[in-house]
Amino acid sequence: MSQISFINLDGQSFELPTFVGSENEKAIDIAKLRDLSGYVTYDPGYKNTGATKSAITYLDGEEGILRYRGYSIEELADKSTFLEVAYLLIHGELPHKAQLDSFESEIKQYTISNEVLKKIADTIPNSVHPMSEIAGLVGLMSAFHSTEEAGDDEKNMMRLMATLPIMATWNYKKGLGQEANQPDTSLDYCSTFLQLMFAKPGDPFKGDPVVSKALNKLLILHADHEQNCSTSTVRLVGSSHANVFASVSAGIQALSGPLHGGANQEVIEMLEAIKADGGDTDKYIAMAKDKASGFRLMGFGHRVYKNFDPRAKIIKKAADDVLKALGVNDPVLSIAQHLEDAALHDEYFVARKLYPNVDFYSGIIYRALGIPTNMFTVMFAIGRLPGWLAQWKELKTNKEPIGRPRQIYTGYTSRAFVDIANR
Ligand code: CMC
Repeated sequence: MSQISFINLDGQSFELPTFVGSENEKAIDIAKLRDLSGYVTYDPGYKNTGATKSAITYLDGEEGILRYRGYSIEELADKSTFLEVAYLLIHGELPHKAQLDSFESEIKQYTISNEVLKKIADTIPNSVHPMSEIAGLVGLMSAFHSTEEAGDDEKNMMRLMATLPIMATWNYKKGLGQEANQPDTSLDYCSTFLQLMFAKPGDPFKGDPVVSKALNKLLILHADHEQNCSTSTVRLVGSSHANVFASVSAGIQALSGPLHGGANQEVIEMLEAIKADGGDTDKYIAMAKDKASGFRLMGFGHRVYKNFDPRAKIIKKAADDVLKALGVNDPVLSIAQHLEDAALHDEYFVARKLYPNVDFYSGIIYRALGIPTNMFTVMFAIGRLPGWLAQWKELKTNKEPIGRPRQIYTGYTSRAFVDIANR
C-alpha cells in the first residue's frame, strides 16, 4: 500500500509516495519531485536508484539470495536445464513438458546459419575480440528479419537464442583455420554448442555428459541478474523502441567491460600472471590494496552482494567437481584458492565486504571444458541472453517510457564566443 514520505527543501515540505516490492524492498517514488520542487536526485552509478519495477529476478545482496521468478538459484542450478530456465525467465513460469518441447523445437528451427552474416564474419580479422564480433553480428541481424509485424518480437527472441551460440563459435573455428560446423539439432542446447565448437570434420561428435552438465550449470547461473550494467543497457536502448537485435547488441558491448562480464577473462589472465611470477599471492593482495598500483583483484567485489555471491559458492564447488571428473589438474585453481583465503582474512577486503564473485572460478571451469580464454565473456553473453530477452520483453509489455536521466551541469555558464585568432 502506498504511503507518503515528506522531504523538506528550501523550507518547503513536499509529499512523495512510498511503496514496497513483493520482497519488502522499500522505495520512494520521486517521479514528481522535479515538478514539485525543482530538485532532481543525484546518484552516480545508480547505487540507490530503482530504474524500474520488475517481476523477473530478485536478489538480496546482504543475505546472498538470488531467485529467478521466485525459484532459488541453488535449486535451478541443481535440478533444471538452461532452456527450462530461459523459458522461465522469458515466459514467467517453469514450462511443462509439451511447452518445453515446443520451445526447444522453435529454437532449433532457427539454427540455420545466415550465409551473408557468415561471409561478413569471415572478413573480420582474427585480432578482433570475439565479443566485438558477436555484438556486430547480432546488431546486423536486424537487416534480415522483420521487426515491425505482430509476432516478430517473439520470433526474433527465439532467433537470437538459436543463433548467438552458433555465431559465437565462428571466431574460434576461423582461428583454427577450420570450417564452421553445422549445428546437430538432435543434441540438446548445450551439447549442440559443444559440437559446434569441438566436433572434428568427418568425425562424429562424442559429447561428454560431465562437460554439458557443467556448461548447463554455468549458463543457468549467468542467466539473469536484475538491473546490472548490461541489462540496464538493454532496457535503456530498448526504451527508445530500438529492436531486440540492437538492444542485445548494446548489452553485449556493455558486458565486455572488465568491471562486468569481461572480468572472467581477466581473472584467468591475472591467475596466470601470478603463477608466472612465482605464485606469490601476498604480493598481489598487497598490490590490490595499494590504490596507486591501479591493480584490482579481478573476480572480487560486487555492487550488490556484500556477504557472498551465491553463484560463486555454487561455481567454486562445481570447479572442484568438474576438474576431478575430467581428471584436470589446473595449477591456477590452487592459486585461486590461496588468493581467496588470503583476501577473506585480510582487513582491507573484510572491511569493504569484498568476496569472490561469479567470475572468480568460472574461467577455471571454462578452461577445463576446453573453451579458449578470449571466449569466456562470450560464454557469459550466451548465458545472459535469456535474461536480456526477458527484461527487454518486460520493458515493452509495461510500456515503459524512454530512459533519459537528468544531470547536474557543472560546466561554464554562458560566455561569449571568441574568434579563433584571439583564443
Ligand atoms: N580489488 C581491490 N579493491 C577493490 C575491488 C577489487 N576487486 N573491488 C572494490 N574494491 C575497493 C575499491 O577500491 C573501493 O575502495 P575505497 O572504498 O577504499 O575507495 C571499495 O572497494 C568499493 O569499491 P567500488 O569500486 O566503489 O565498488 P563498486 O560497487 O562501484 O564496484 C565492482 C563493484 C564489481 C565493479 C568492483 O568490486 C570491481 O571492480 N571488481 C573487480 C572486477 C570484477 O570482478 N567484476 C565482476 C563483477 S561480477 C560479474 C558481473 O555481474 O559483472
